[in-house]
Amino acid sequence: MALDKSLKRFGMLYGSSPVMERLYQQLDKVAITDATVLLAGESGTGKELIAQTIHQTSRRSKETFIAVNCGAIPAHLIEAALFGHEKGSFTGAARQHVGYFEHASRGTLFLDEITEMPTDMQVKLLRVLESGMFLRVGGSDEVKVDVRLIAATNRDLEAAVKQGSLREDLMYRLAVFPIRVPPLRERNGDIELLAQHFLQILNAKDNTKKTFSRNSMEMIRSYTWPGNVRELKNVVHRAFILSSDTLVIEEHLSDISARKPTLHEGFLNFSVGTPLADAQREIILATLKHFSGNKRLTAEALGISLKTLYNRLKDY
Ligand SMILES: Nc1ncnc2c1ncn2[C@@H]1O[C@H](COP(=O)(O)OP(=O)(O)OP(=O)(O)O)[C@@H](O)[C@H]1O
Ligand SMILES: [Mg+2]
Repeated sequence: MALDKSLKRFGMLYGSSPVMERLYQQLDKVAITDATVLLAGESGTGKELIAQTIHQTSRRSKETFIAVNCGAIPAHLIEAALFGHEKGSFTGAARQHVGYFEHASRGTLFLDEITEMPTDMQVKLLRVLESGMFLRVGGSDEVKVDVRLIAATNRDLEAAVKQGSLREDLMYRLAVFPIRVPPLRERNGDIELLAQHFLQILNAKDNTKKTFSRNSMEMIRSYTWPGNVRELKNVVHRAFILSSDTLVIEEHLSDISARKPTLHEGFLNFSVGTPLADAQREIILATLKHFSGNKRLTAEALGISLKTLYNRLKDY
């Protein structure tokens, strides 16, 4: 329980790291406005949770929040899904149908995987954002709505624009308030806090008192979590189920021990802005692994003394 005290919360989000605090500050400022927000972050970093948190913290909290995954709707259906259609507008359109925009009226519409939206729809969306009006498919009367839009992508925005999957004009219109959602590996200290948090939730549900063994926690801390918070949550859940005793041990975390860190054929992947300490740790551990644990060769390759290497490893 003691650990949970230092776990900070903003809306539905948990985390106490400096990057999360910065995120909370941004959310605190933008939530009360009607500004369009563009969330960019890796898969599983909590983009949908952030969108919900923005809605709940806004003056629209009593109204509807609708999440739409643009990648999950077939291209030929997306216009009618978003804007609705009039009776008889196409074969099978027996009745008038109201789209997500109208459903979310006075509330918030979350457009997930925005880069998956066909380009011609992106043009239409831009027009709606600019005028606040649209036509239902097959309709001739403009419909006016008051919807706050939040969009998200797990792709690199610039690359998506370059490759043509996101129109530049739409990107600028959506990015009135852009938010980069940090991956879990950049949230110093949060991995452990979140693991404890998720375990506590499961404990509360099942009326159990399971805890992590020292070694299992060390394993959780040293893993790089490419699947971010979602992966952590799932791994904890699985370990919770597997541990029949009150202790979660390494054996229950076999799914992460079997996986490699972000090492691709001798290369490490870092995003710009990775804290130096994190990068250093990854480089040291990966090099040590490369030399099959031989510390002398590792120190030599990294250009540090054996003593420095030992000290670092002790810290980790
Ligand atoms: N800061 C957080 N605190 C607590 N739970 C979190 C946090 N961030 C994410 N989660 C949990 O992790 C899971 C993934 O979050 P979410 O679906 O919001 O991620 P996402 O960025 O939308 O992922 P994707 O790009 O794959 O759609 C959810 O179960 C969510 O509740
Ligand atoms: Mg999502």
